[in-house]
Amino acid sequence: MESLSATKFPTTYVGRLLVLCLATTLLNPVFGAPICKFPAIFNFGDSNSDTGGIAAAFLAPQAPYGQTFFHKPSGRVSDGRLMIDFIAQNFELPYLSAYLDSLGTNFSHGANFATAGSTIKPPPCGLAGYSPFFLDLQFNQFAEFKNRSQFIKHQGGIFGSLMPNEKYFAKALYTFDIGQNDLGSAIYANKTLQEIDASIPDIVNSFASNVKKIYNLGGRHLRIHNTGPIGCLPYMLIKSLSGQRDEYGCSKPLNELAQNFNRKLKEAIVQLRKDLPLAAITHVDIYSAKYSLISNANKYGFEKPTMACCGHGGEYNYNSNVQCGRVGVVNGTEIFGGSCENPSVRVNWDGIHYTEAANKFLFDQISTGAFSDPPIPLNMACHRHFGNMFHN
Ligand SMILES: *[C@@H]1O[C@H](CO)[C@@H](O)[C@H](O)[C@H]1NC(C)=O
Ligand SMILES: *[C@@H]1O[C@H](CO)[C@@H](O)[C@H](O)[C@H]1NC(C)=O
Ligand SMILES: *[C@@H]1O[C@H](CO)[C@@H](O)[C@H](O)[C@H]1NC(C)=O
Ligand SMILES: *[C@@H]1O[C@H](CO)[C@@H](O)[C@H](O)[C@H]1NC(C)=O
Repeated sequence: MESLSATKFPTTYVGRLLVLCLATTLLNPVFGAPICKFPAIFNFGDSNSDTGGIAAAFLAPQAPYGQTFFHKPSGRVSDGRLMIDFIAQNFELPYLSAYLDSLGTNFSHGANFATAGSTIKPPPCGLAGYSPFFLDLQFNQFAEFKNRSQFIKHQGGIFGSLMPNEKYFAKALYTFDIGQNDLGSAIYANKTLQEIDASIPDIVNSFASNVKKIYNLGGRHLRIHNTGPIGCLPYMLIKSLSGQRDEYGCSKPLNELAQNFNRKLKEAIVQLRKDLPLAAITHVDIYSAKYSLISNANKYGFEKPTMACCGHGGEYNYNSNVQCGRVGVVNGTEIFGGSCENPSVRVNWDGIHYTEAANKFLFDQISTGAFSDPPIPLNMACHRHFGNMFHN
């Protein structure tokens, strides 16, 4: 399989070099091989990586969303950039356009199929706040995009210039961050923890089958984030089901639920590596990266990690009647869900999503490879041979 290096490099040489250096350079970001140059990114997921999909299809988040970096609402549910933005920036690629956005989009270096509120399984009926674009549909949109973009590319002109080259599909990085809403919606639907636990294998199977479909369409470099500590998020901490707290104020039972999901996801990825022999699959333990930030918030220069910056009221500054950027009525008075004074020292933005400061911190943590399996830096993630060293 072709490596995506900046310069051509005989892969046998890379392999030999790695064996020689393995003992000393395991965590060395240099690794002796050229850094990866992905020409495009295709992303699948939920609000953690939506760069404007749900905003284009339904209602756009209002100020103060976007205030920190874009200085206006940007379609992201954060005050600024998301981890996927930092990943694109890292590879010197433009921020991803949302597939659903019909205005001013440029797909020459990738497309984003993620939408806020997306689930892996079909979204629950009768619960507000979830996206109709669950993972199967995101895959369908990708398949449609792959075909039609090439038709348009071949026609040339301005529209053609906004589409990726055909060969980018095999060389692109495919990123996934989805699952939180499958758990979150079940909690909001008042399912018991036992019921939700029992549904996890089915959710993970659906995830894996979509990864296979993307592989069958030529995707080779796959980066899969597991799900974060949902029990540390204000919108969950207000639920009675959240139960016992840990020493950082997070819900123990809900974090155990997320960890159960992550265990099953990890098993599925082990199987995917066997089923998809030409794929380089990186599993990223976002759970541990986020939990480490929350549990060491002060040490890393952050404060109040389980309290929303933007919102209103109570222990968590979160009230579903007065959401960030909206006006709600509390005790007969109209109140606007506004931002805290200094989002740059806060972890949680709006009760569900992370601040730009937290996303940047998390990106810096995960890009070293410290939370990855195989434990190789983001910039080396195209070299399948490195991955095989750890899994053979
Ligand atoms: C689309 O994006 C590419 C990469 O950033 C850029 O070179 C190109 O000029 C853009 N096209 C238009 C029409 O803006
Ligand atoms: C893409 O196009 C090819 C050839 O035209 C066709 O065989 C295939 O079914 C199409 N796939 C999708 C998902 O539309
Ligand atoms: C879940 O329970 C709460 C509290 O009893 C109730 O207000 C809410 O409507 C229930 N949600 C669903 C989807 O049944
Ligand atoms: C509404 O008023 C009650 C009684 O004054 C108070 O205890 C409660 O905190 C208020 N609710 C909010 C969300 O401010």
